[in-house]
Amino acid sequence: MTRRSVVLGCGAYLPDRIVTNAELATRLDTSDDWIAQRTGIRQRHIAADGEFTSHLATKAAAKALEAAGVPASSVDLIVLATATPDETFPATAARVQAELGIAGGIAFDVQAVCTGFVYALAVADNFIKAGQSERALVIGAETFSRILDWSDRGTCVLFGDGAGAVLLEAQEGKGAPDDRGVLSTHLYSDGRHHDALYVDGGPSTTGKAGYLRMQGREVFRHAVVRLAEAVDAALAANDLKGSDVDWLVPHQANRRIIDAMAQRLGLPDEKVVVTIDRHANTSAASIPLALAEASRDGRLKTGQLVLMEAMGGGFTWGSALLRW
Ligand code: ACO
Repeated sequence: MTRRSVVLGCGAYLPDRIVTNAELATRLDTSDDWIAQRTGIRQRHIAADGEFTSHLATKAAAKALEAAGVPASSVDLIVLATATPDETFPATAARVQAELGIAGGIAFDVQAVCTGFVYALAVADNFIKAGQSERALVIGAETFSRILDWSDRGTCVLFGDGAGAVLLEAQEGKGAPDDRGVLSTHLYSDGRHHDALYVDGGPSTTGKAGYLRMQGREVFRHAVVRLAEAVDAALAANDLKGSDVDWLVPHQANRRIIDAMAQRLGLPDEKVVVTIDRHANTSAASIPLALAEASRDGRLKTGQLVLMEAMGGGFTWGSALLRW
């Protein structure tokens, strides 16, 4: 018998306030056309004053528990992916744990920027496989609006706030590929590319949170190559081809990157879950937000193969394949 991490439920939360490209164009030298054509983004959600990453995360996690129909007290592990924690410490996961009324178990944050959810999923999956967890909440939650330089049109138009959560449960199966659950995860990092995408501050350097800085073209160039590598590794490890994949649920950074990956896999648009037009890039939250949307509207069906991929600052990148 093989222990697998099976998805019991998903949840999502987006702040109420929507900022359209047109609204940004009233304060910046930009346009709806420029943003939409280069990125596919039309709008983004922005957290209210006093609304923190932990608040977004708690709401998404509560919805995942509700969808799964299990009590919060049965969760023994929370892995929260974020690059925008409430505070330097303690972990935002610990705040979420308290907000959900969970008094025991393990809770910590994972920081891999836009690859954060794939990293967190891999960590939780390994805890489950090792027998250290029975039920794990994997959350991606971000308030990138707080680390954007709102005068830099090259970066501030690209991101949004939000949170998504997935509840995993350890289940014993035969281990055959048709069993439900996480089939494989592949994680990568190459710290030599720090300067292409980073935040120019932090507790140990400036003492201030700082702002996101990015060499957009450099990131784009690497993303297409690295994501292809991660996707190929997922398929090879499971002896599958692109056309076997039922759903591509990619990190939502740029519509052109998403299309390039779908093309590589030979998947038509109808098999790709896209939220970037409405959510923009919510970093670690983008994949679980997309999973929650496609689960809620009935696109994801039991037994289907779901391929996730992401790339972000570090550089970090990775993929995860699961049977829904
Ligand atoms: N509105 C209007 N003009 C703009 C804007 C804007 N919002 N932003 C930049 N420009 C201008 C630039 O100033 C430049 O003008 P110039 O030619 O007069 O100097 C021109 O547009 C071209 O700028 P580039 O940065 O070269 O534009 P590019 O075609 O590369 O598109 C973009 C920029 C959309 C950021 C693209 O590089 C990209 O998507 N890169 C991937 C980055 C990414 O997705 N990062 C997310 C985080 S990492 C991740 O999640 C994978």
